[in-house]
Amino acid sequence: MIEIRDLYKAFEGQQVLRGVTLNIEKGKSHIVIGRSGCGKSVLLKHIIGLLQPDAGDVRVDGISIPGLPRRELYKVRRKIGMLFQGAALFDSMTVAENISLGVREHRMVDEQDLPALVAEKLAMVGLKGIEEKYPSELSGGMKKRVGLARALMMEPEYILYDEPTTGLDPVMADAINEMIIDVTGQMGVTSIVVTHDMVSAYKIGDMISMLHEGTVRFTGTPDEIRACDDPVVQQFITGSSRPVGQEVYGGA
Ligand SMILES: Nc1ncnc2c1ncn2[C@@H]1O[C@H](COP(=O)(O)OP(=O)(O)OP(=O)(O)O)[C@@H](O)[C@H]1O
Ligand SMILES: [Mg+2]
Repeated sequence: MIEIRDLYKAFEGQQVLRGVTLNIEKGKSHIVIGRSGCGKSVLLKHIIGLLQPDAGDVRVDGISIPGLPRRELYKVRRKIGMLFQGAALFDSMTVAENISLGVREHRMVDEQDLPALVAEKLAMVGLKGIEEKYPSELSGGMKKRVGLARALMMEPEYILYDEPTTGLDPVMADAINEMIIDVTGQMGVTSIVVTHDMVSAYKIGDMISMLHEGTVRFTGTPDEIRACDDPVVQQFITGSSRPVGQEVYGGA
């Protein structure tokens, strides 16, 4: 499991995380919601050791990530697939090269086995036969799916998704959600999904946590968050521009 304990992070005096505590259980999909700029991507980057906290701890299967020697960190990272916000594909590389990057770096498979593996993962995300295309030839939804294929190549135990459906049309967003559900269910992967899309959050999530002003404001099941009477939570999940109870145009 992933345990985040009292995590603090500031950038140039701007305090972003102010004591985030979160447990992600194995085999579940855990959604993290919150306003733009509240620190969701920053939180994910701490889990894979791309950022160092000012204080607090992140443990992956009991191993503390902050301060872990590089070699040990790489071992932990092999277990974790990451779908970055905006997919983060290299424009100068083909789809196949992009997808193979991680397994090549970690020397996880023989070069001769790569094409079959790439084809298999592309088929899983519904993109058969696009190996030789370049990212500039793909739509936003296709790029996200290529990013997911790349994450799947490592056969990870955990996958971190940063805004997997943002900017996609509702049909494509739903297709991505179905893929996340399939990957979590069939492969037994533990998923952490950062999103501000509540349709996706309810559909995918076993648990939902809301990040607000640097701490976890609420954690619960989709039903629990719907029933939660915290006005800050209600304002976010109903998409209101004002706290619930203070609507100008007379709320429900
Ligand atoms: N490397 C960095 N250096 C300086 N400031 C940073 C860095 N990374 C993030 N920040 C700041 O931390 C805050 C949180 O950023 P973060 O990207 O985590 O937001 P977010 O919740 O993911 O937002 P969004 O929903 O828009 O993606 C922002 O104010 C951002 O400017
Ligand atoms: Mg972000």
